[in-house]
Amino acid sequence: MVKVAIFASGNGSNFENLVLKLRAGKIKGIDIKLLLVDKRDIYAIERAKRLEIPYEIVEYRQYGDKVEYEREILKRLEKYEIEYILLAGYMKIIGDTILGRYDKKIINIHPSYLPYYRGKDSIKRAYENGEEFTGVTIHYVDNGVDTGEIIYQEKIYIDKDWDLDILESEVHKKEYEIYPKVLDNLFNNMEEK
Ligand code: GRF
Repeated sequence: MVKVAIFASGNGSNFENLVLKLRAGKIKGIDIKLLLVDKRDIYAIERAKRLEIPYEIVEYRQYGDKVEYEREILKRLEKYEIEYILLAGYMKIIGDTILGRYDKKIINIHPSYLPYYRGKDSIKRAYENGEEFTGVTIHYVDNGVDTGEIIYQEKIYIDKDWDLDILESEVHKKEYEIYPKVLDNLFNNMEEK
């Protein structure tokens, strides 16, 4: 079993979905050991408590320096012997301190068809630009913003009758479907090697 931590900064619905899919036997080969968050007032923590997944809070403002902040995160990860990091709505850019320790071992889910709409508010920007499609992408994390090697992506065609709320729920539905599948695939093929 590969020990993983999930990083989140807000709602945490992808975190909860991954835990539930794991418990339902839909993802094999990993064990979700930890939720790591960068804020103390977020709903993701409530989900962790309910799901009985340990969580650690590391707030940037307590360190004020990216290297120190990330060193503290590494310490917390060591405690749980974390081997892989899964980002699920974590709003900070991963720096060299964490990347140096977890090279090609950090995976992110992004709500657009990369390389289109990197960064924040991707769903809204695609919608407001009247795009024909957007999508969901799972990729490795490098030192850019949503620039790492793509593992898997799917398009979502935007129906002319949809408002932004509908598009957002379609994107999240797709996220809940593909993140577990991609992880299952990735970690099981890895074990066979
Ligand atoms: C998701 O849309 C994810 O793709 C993006 O941030 C959002 C997080 O949502 N990176 P949640 O916190 O999992 O509900």
